[in-house]
Amino acid sequence: MITKPKGTKDLYGTEAKRWQYVSRVIDEVMEKYNYNFIRVPVFESSELFHRGVGETTDIVTKETYDFTDRGGRNMTLRPEGTAGVVRSYIENKMYGNDDKPTKLYYNMPMYRYERPQAGRYRELTQFGYELIGSDDPLADAEVISLAVNVYKILGLRQIKVNINSLGDAESRNSYRKALIKHFEPHINELCDDCKERLEKNPLRILDCKVDADKEIMKTAPKTIDYLNDESKKRFEKVKEYLEVMGVEYEVDPSVVRGLDYYNHTVFEVEVKIDGFGAQNVIGAGGRYNNMIEELGGPSTPAIGFAVGFDRLMLALEYEKVNIPVNTSVDLFLLYVNDDEKKYAAYLTNELRMNGFVVETDYLSRSLKAGFKQADRLNSKFTIVLNSEMLENNEVKIKNNKTKEEEIISVDTIIYYLDENIAFDECEDNCENNECNCKENNN
Ligand code: HAM
Repeated sequence: MITKPKGTKDLYGTEAKRWQYVSRVIDEVMEKYNYNFIRVPVFESSELFHRGVGETTDIVTKETYDFTDRGGRNMTLRPEGTAGVVRSYIENKMYGNDDKPTKLYYNMPMYRYERPQAGRYRELTQFGYELIGSDDPLADAEVISLAVNVYKILGLRQIKVNINSLGDAESRNSYRKALIKHFEPHINELCDDCKERLEKNPLRILDCKVDADKEIMKTAPKTIDYLNDESKKRFEKVKEYLEVMGVEYEVDPSVVRGLDYYNHTVFEVEVKIDGFGAQNVIGAGGRYNNMIEELGGPSTPAIGFAVGFDRLMLALEYEKVNIPVNTSVDLFLLYVNDDEKKYAAYLTNELRMNGFVVETDYLSRSLKAGFKQADRLNSKFTIVLNSEMLENNEVKIKNNKTKEEEIISVDTIIYYLDENIAFDECEDNCENNECNCKENNN
């Protein structure tokens, strides 16, 4: 048997329905925030990620899926979305548009050759968004509050937002010097990768998975102590706006983010549910004011965030959030002879075009097996088409919940279904105390 590659998953059945529901909610929220959907290629030229994400980041040095295409070009499956979106922003000259800032969002698979475990995959899905063209601290606060709102709207409560600032180029430079001073005397205690990082990008030492628990890591200098006045003021503004927006957060100096492109605000959202597991960062992002220029575009500030969709779904499951999944059909149509089958073909099509979820039999089942199938599909109503009745333009329809049967005119099926499905849903809501519609219907 051929099996799926390690670190990937098949999405189907109820789980697929849950994903689709969450995606739809996300689409609605993003529309309210005036973000436009963008899709970029699954593979891009390898150079984009080397230049965009950074030569010293783990996802580029160790985790990319690289290949040479038949034309001899070096290609990489995207490990994240920001670099591709920025490439598209530049290539399509979106900076020339009047409607600044440009707000783009995506929901797509990414590829990282990581060691798979619960919540960590090689094919992972990210829902992410990028606000390009504003350096205003208000944009930082909005991007953070949008993340929190998405989680909240979906029903996730047990989350924590950690923010930090890496500051501007000057602040980052003095921080870099402080890190070198701190780590250099202990260079032999660090892993070989970190030895190299000390020269190339000492910030990356802080997210080393091998040396993570060493004492020298815990006593490392903190970015926040190396911010110059301007960066400090900027960070204060971001916090002020967050407070105005009612976003709860904690300043966590250990948030430095594993990608090279960040400056100023960086942030992560963690799940705080008992037993959730080690992969509890369900989303992360930050400001990247230099990337667009570095990739050949005009100097343009930007900030963004990406939700780990797989981890988000796990968190919703752990927090037992009820995700409405439609597991029923409105009507099941049964028939016995060929003429009735033809009529079923016509009526199924007609009713679907009028917005109903309709199923019929495609396996030449007996009536008894057909009723069973209608039950399995949780069908709200069943009609057994009958040639004689159809001659009189009539059908017998059964309400599968009340077991009541009624003979109605074919011309009124749509009205009948409309009214009765609405009434049943209304009653269900009443039972769950979700509305006072029962009173209205009595
Ligand atoms: P990232 O931190 O590399 O940032 O990934 C964002 C989120 O994707 C993580 O917080 C995590 O929830 C999820 N994630 C990462 N790797 C895996 C994995 N192997 N399996 C499952 N989930 C994973 C970025 O990708 C940036 N592009 C975010 C950003 C957007 N920054 C600015 N704009």
